Amino acid sequence: MPIRCALVCFLSIVSTPNISMITAEDFTRCRQKDSKLNECLKMAVPDALRRMKKGIPSLSVPPMEPLHVNSINVDSGSGPVVITQMYKNIKLHGLTNTLLTLYKADLKNYRLRTDSITPKMEFIADYIMRGRILLLPIQGKGVANITMVNLVVKHDLIGEPVVRDGETYMHIKDYRVKFIPQKVVLYFSNLFNGDKVLGDNMNEFLNSNSDLVFNELKESYEKSLSSVFQNVTNEIFDRVPMNKIFLEE
Ligand SMILES: *[C@@H]1O[C@H](CO)[C@@H](O)[C@H](O)[C@H]1NC(C)=O
Ligand SMILES: *[C@@H]1O[C@H](CO)[C@@H](O)[C@H](O)[C@H]1NC(C)=O
Repeated sequence: MPIRCALVCFLSIVSTPNISMITAEDFTRCRQKDSKLNECLKMAVPDALRRMKKGIPSLSVPPMEPLHVNSINVDSGSGPVVITQMYKNIKLHGLTNTLLTLYKADLKNYRLRTDSITPKMEFIADYIMRGRILLLPIQGKGVANITMVNLVVKHDLIGEPVVRDGETYMHIKDYRVKFIPQKVVLYFSNLFNGDKVLGDNMNEFLNSNSDLVFNELKESYEKSLSSVFQNVTNEIFDRVPMNKIFLEE
């Protein structure tokens, strides 16, 4: 097997018996100098993501389906939504069905920009919340389901070179995301200590105002999830030299 490795074919180099089904031949190869580099990456990244469904233990890449996140705290202090929310045991479903619609790699400046679309991303978590939405008090403790339909995400990865043992690694120091869902469906179980009538009414109310509710919470979600995406990316980028991720020749 030639050691001229391609995007994410590093998986095969570091493969353990657990992931022995992943081989170099399975991955799309992209070369830095290829005039179609961006087109190539557009195909290769979602493909790699699907192959990471169950995670890669040797690289500490967690399973992607679902992706577990410990906790997120949301504090929205002003405007029509004043609310404190705590989410724990978060599971994100649907990320591995993500497609990239745009990829702009500027490797000289260690900058990657990409737009993705996820047909359906479900955010399922234990929640506790208390606050006010459009003057209505809301409180509860149960399971939340926040489903984003046709979620467009704009990713902006700002990297820097880190040289170690003569190899250059592309460490991502800042990872920014913007979420633009076409539609958001919210469901919170056990609102108002399980009062069914109040709970059903509130869920209905939240969904008829889902644009407003989501916009107030969006920034907190973006901040938390971008740090998750950054960690996952760096688990790979800090371990695999840049010229093995983006082929030099
Ligand atoms: C979450 O909500 C969506 C949209 O209503 C639904 O399709 C999905 O089955 C729900 N998921 C869970 C785990 O309840
Ligand atoms: C990302 O990694 C840092 C450093 O290892 C850690 O402190 C932080 O909790 C991680 N964030 C998430 C969301 O996993």
